Amino acid sequence: MKQTSFYLVTDNHYVSRKVWVEGKPFTHRERGDQIALKATPEILDTFLEKILADETTDTVIFTGDNVNNGDMASHYEFRERLERLTAAGKKAYVITATHDYCGAGDDENGFSACRYTETGTEPTEFMRKAELLDFYFDYGPKQALSLHRESGSYVVQLGEGVRLAMICDNGNGRSHCGLFEDGTAWLREQIRAAKAAGEYILLATHHPVLPPWDVFEKAAPHELYGGNREMRQLMCEENVRVIFTGHTHVQNIRKYTDSEGRWFLNIATIALVNAAGKMRRVTVDPDAGVCDVRSVGFERINGLDTGDRTAYEYLHALNFPGILEDLLPLAVSDYEAFLSLAEGFLPVDQLRKHKTAVRTLCKKLQKMKLSTAAKFGSGWKNMSPEQREYAKKEPLQNAIFGVLRHIYPGNPPYGPDTAEYQAVLGIARKLDRYVRRFRIEKVQSLIPEGSSLEEMAKDFLYNTRTGDDDAIRFDLK
Ligand SMILES: [Fe+2]
Ligand SMILES: [Fe+2]
Repeated sequence: MKQTSFYLVTDNHYVSRKVWVEGKPFTHRERGDQIALKATPEILDTFLEKILADETTDTVIFTGDNVNNGDMASHYEFRERLERLTAAGKKAYVITATHDYCGAGDDENGFSACRYTETGTEPTEFMRKAELLDFYFDYGPKQALSLHRESGSYVVQLGEGVRLAMICDNGNGRSHCGLFEDGTAWLREQIRAAKAAGEYILLATHHPVLPPWDVFEKAAPHELYGGNREMRQLMCEENVRVIFTGHTHVQNIRKYTDSEGRWFLNIATIALVNAAGKMRRVTVDPDAGVCDVRSVGFERINGLDTGDRTAYEYLHALNFPGILEDLLPLAVSDYEAFLSLAEGFLPVDQLRKHKTAVRTLCKKLQKMKLSTAAKFGSGWKNMSPEQREYAKKEPLQNAIFGVLRHIYPGNPPYGPDTAEYQAVLGIARKLDRYVRRFRIEKVQSLIPEGSSLEEMAKDFLYNTRTGDDDAIRFDLK
């Protein structure tokens, strides 16, 4: 049988130029986020051009949050991109998620579509949840082997010997993002039908079935797939090896193994419009029963002037994780510029009032070395002489920003043999003692049974998961 490959794009949060103009309202809206908004058309088009240029791959799947705010202008322009793909001979399969519609009544989801003017916002035409299936019918439901109308989920033939279940979990707003009983029964039937035909089946949905890190499940359980425990069980029982997800905007590959040793992978993909945005390229070899997953990023964004910064640096500086890196030196060198950059996501009035204190604090933080953090915790005594020498010279801010920079793209670089690892875990150990001694329940409630802050911190220092958040090759059998 022939190999099959497809691209996966998720969380492209498309924003039409028709729903914003340059001005503080939209600039500030983008600042407080962790994804680019203004450049979403250019970013999507850059990736689509890569897809169109790849003659060996004829399928593209989109796993939700296709537009940012449910407005119709963005939906029409996104659908034009889908038409461009199909006109070029590609197959495009779409599911939708909570950002793709605006709630009213029983599908209330808290979003309201608007147009950003120079001074504020005004309402604009929006998509309702019940209209989504028809609007995107040509992109998946129409080609489906089976369609579950109630949820908008469907199964398509991906290629020889392999099917794909696109599970639409846009649910009832934010209260339940997953299939209901009837939908789950339909999914089980579909899995069994694929098996009976001697074919593999892959799953894709928007919300993750496994959290990217342990703390996520405790801190934000509602951000997981609704009914994730049942889904884990179903996948193990039915021997389904993989579910592709989006939503967290985090690049992350995790394995779940149940008490009987049955397992599956949750392959979560970073938002396309993150500064380090990527799509996945997945290849299935049905004869060998092997699935190979890689990631494709960008070096430049076509049609976007990024000045003397790389595309990554330019986009990184737009949102709060990157703005913090620019704010720290500005607080010391140019306080007015600092305030103007902080506007929109930090309390500027307070910062203006406490100028001296803020400047002093930022100056101190800028000068602080990694060794200070290591000595504050218990990391210093675990460091080798070389690590101590390094820590005495290395600015602490590099480690802080280094960790922040890897939250969304995954694969953080501070493994057990680094000074950063010792310093951070030393602090976490100290905090663990405080939390236990003073019974700080708010923190204790975030720690899974048998774990600790020290254990949880490792997820953010190096890859504690399958070894690489960007790529994996696994058995489908
Ligand atoms: Fe999203
Ligand atoms: Fe989402």
